[in-house]
Amino acid sequence: VDAYSCKHLNPASRPNAKALDDTLTASDAAGLPPISLSPAQGKFLALHCRAAGVTHALEVGTLGGYSAIWIASENPHLRLTTVEYNKTHVEVARKNIELAGLSDRIEVIHGAGLDVLARLRDEVTAGTRPQFGFVLIDADKENNWNYLKLAKDMVKPNSVICVDNVVREGQLADFTNRDPHTVASRQLVENAGKEPGVDSVVVQTVGVKWYDGWLWVVVS
Ligand code: DHB
Ligand code: MG
Repeated sequence: VDAYSCKHLNPASRPNAKALDDTLTASDAAGLPPISLSPAQGKFLALHCRAAGVTHALEVGTLGGYSAIWIASENPHLRLTTVEYNKTHVEVARKNIELAGLSDRIEVIHGAGLDVLARLRDEVTAGTRPQFGFVLIDADKENNWNYLKLAKDMVKPNSVICVDNVVREGQLADFTNRDPHTVASRQLVENAGKEPGVDSVVVQTVGVKWYDGWLWVVVS
């Protein structure tokens, strides 16, 4: 279904098609894990940002820049800040973003997510950095709740925070599964349900990138 739909909805003639393909090829060649968003997921987040009129987006977990390039290339007035801990990933992503012609609108910050997000939160609070209108959290899963708490304090009202990989082929609701990533996902969902000022839903996804899902959080 992904192949059929994307052939018609994201044809190779689209302006960003080559940059996106080249990004995956270069990321593979550099040995990055093949865990970028699927094309349909990238397009969905890009369309969401367009529909919501997002001007400043934040991502935790750049990998090779694939999701960043999707979001920025479909939204010509959007600026995206993306945070990555792994130095090789940062270098690969910066190169991919440069080749996509998006270096002026995508800022890749090298550092540990919690440190960088705390600094960004302080800048937003001080008014020296604009509030974000969308956040994608797609990094070390154990910190998902910490990232969500930090992100919540630097978004405009009614912004979405999307957390990738919370369903994990259904492991989310298999309570015999004690994998640390799954336990972190469960804690995230349970905490989100109790957190004031947010309303959330788990959106299950299936496609070329197996069966997984997002926590989709709207901040009041
Ligand atoms: C993994 C991480 C991801 O962000 C993802 O989308 C898929 C898999 C992983 O660490 O295995
Ligand atoms: Mg992911």
